[in-house]
Order: sequence, then structure tokens, then C-alpha cells
Amino acid sequence: MVFPEYRPRRLRQNENFRAMIRETTLVPEQMIYPLFVMPGKNRREPVPSMPGVFRLSVDQLAREGKECLELGVRSVILFGLPEKKDPMGSGAHAGDGIVQRAIRELKNKVPELTVVTDVCLCEYTDHGHCGCLVGGEVDNDTTLELLARTALSHAKAGADMVAPSDMMDGRVSEIRSALDENNFHMVPIMSYAVKYASAFYGPFRDAADCAPQFGDRRSYQMDPANSREALREATLDVDEGADILMVKPAVAYLDIIRQLRDEFDLPVAAYHVSGEYAMIKAAAEKGWIDGDRVMAETLLSIRRAGADIIITYFAKDMARLLRGG
Ligand code: PBG
Repeated sequence: MVFPEYRPRRLRQNENFRAMIRETTLVPEQMIYPLFVMPGKNRREPVPSMPGVFRLSVDQLAREGKECLELGVRSVILFGLPEKKDPMGSGAHAGDGIVQRAIRELKNKVPELTVVTDVCLCEYTDHGHCGCLVGGEVDNDTTLELLARTALSHAKAGADMVAPSDMMDGRVSEIRSALDENNFHMVPIMSYAVKYASAFYGPFRDAADCAPQFGDRRSYQMDPANSREALREATLDVDEGADILMVKPAVAYLDIIRQLRDEFDLPVAAYHVSGEYAMIKAAAEKGWIDGDRVMAETLLSIRRAGADIIITYFAKDMARLLRGG
């Protein structure tokens, strides 16, 4: 009989050994919970393609924020559904816009909560593109000023961090200058540095009512086939002054998360997007998978790939599971 010299099973034989040698962990503080804010009062509207996710009116936010804090989730990211849309997305930077009101409400009522804002025009433009149009095309440079104005209006309302998701060239430096010139030099930028033109955003576009009315986003979001380009995008954002680099989506792009982790020393965030959430929820509802275990395994895989921070609709569920209930 030849005995195996090294037996990996020795350190797997009980939970104490397994916990002792565990390489990757996930804590609630590393997760950011997305919130959709809508006009009106006392509204809590379920998003059909995202079970467990609601569109909330401003008065409902404090309760939600407190629940996050109690679970250890200390940050939320806000998305707004404006009353009206127009070609230039002017609702995005309105002083009394939906997100600006939401920020003030949360910072007043739940000041310990970190409020991050998504900076983009697609929820505010009537054509649904992330920038404004010139001659039927999404025009980069005219959009930059609107994005900077939007980020500044969020900071003025009290946002703790801004997260541009539009994928226009040069937006990080434009936003950084606008913030600095107005004394918001301490507001960090978490850039959606590497954002792919992905079909996984489908449920989000229902939730935020922001599907493009013509064409698609492939002239500004990245081609899923490319990874070297991801490094170029990230390098640009680092040079322009980003504080955190984000990869989006997460699970289909774990290799990209790992590359960014290895190449850069900034914190890396990953956005586990709506479609990734919806698939797990749907299969779990059918009884085909164990939803909690697949959730935990998925989020762990994103951390293992190298993400420090995960933006996820599972933040509260995962925090509850970590707490053991
Ligand atoms: C806005 C934005 C989108 C998402 C985050 N910010 C939609 C898009 O680019 O079409 C998607 C998030 C998700 O799917 O959960 N530009």
C-alpha cells in the first residue's frame, strides 16, 4: 500500500480547520446596495424581473438605509427615475432632481450611511442614451460638461462619492476638476472604468426605465471580446484621478477583475449586475438551485478574483446569511 504523502483532506476534515485556512472572506462593509428612487409618496413598487428589489419614493429611503446599516451594509448607490425626461437629460443635474432629493433625505435621516451616486444621463434622456445627441450620435465632449454638472449637483446635495457610468472619454478628469474647483476635493470618484456592452443589464433597464430608444450602447460601452482594452480604459481613469476602479458586469468578467487587481494598486470594485442577480433568483424560485448557497458562492468568486468591493442587489440577503439567519 502506498500512502499519499500530502493529504489536502487533513485540513478539510472539520469546520475549524476549514475556517483556519480560508483564503477569501466577505463582510457586509464591502458591499454596496443599489437603490432606485422614484417620484411620489409612500411608494414601494416591486421590480418584476428583480424579485426582492423595489423602486422607492424618497420618503421610503430612510427606512431602507437604516435596515442596511443594521445589517452592516454601510453604503448604498442611488439611481433615479425622474418625473420627466428630455433630450439633454437635464433632470440629471437639477438641484431639486430626484437623486438630489434622495441624497438630502438619506444624509439628513441616516447620516452614518455612505451615499454613492451613479452619474449618467441615460435615466434622464428621452432617447435613453448615456449622453446627449449631436447629428444622431452620442456626442462625447458636449456630454462631459453635463456629467460634470451632474456629479457636482450630487456633491452639493451631500453625496459621499460619485460613480460615473456613462463611458464617455475624459469624464473622470472633467468631474474631478468640477469637484475640486468647488471645494469638493474630498469626494472620491469610483469610476465604472471597465463597463461592457452587456445583455446582463436587461432587468436594470426595466427598473430604471432607461433602455435606449434606438440603437444600442456599443459605441461607448466596451466589446465583451476585449481584455487588453480594459487595461487601457483603467489606465486612463487612473491618470485622470479615479479613486476606485470598477468592472461591470462581474461574473462573466472575473478574468478582467483579476487583471485589474494585478495591474493597479487602486481598490477594485465589481458590479454584480441586475441580470446576474435575476438569473440566480429565477433558478432558485424554480427550485433548481439553492439560492442562498449560489449567492454566497458567486459573491465569494468575485472577491477571490480580486474585487475589494461588490455592488450587489444581494447585499442585504448576503449580510443576513453571514449573520447566520
Ligand atoms: C447607467 C447604468 C446601467 C447600469 C448601471 N448604471 C445601465 C446601462 O448601462 O445600460 C446597469 C446595472 C445593472 O444592470 O444592475 N448607465
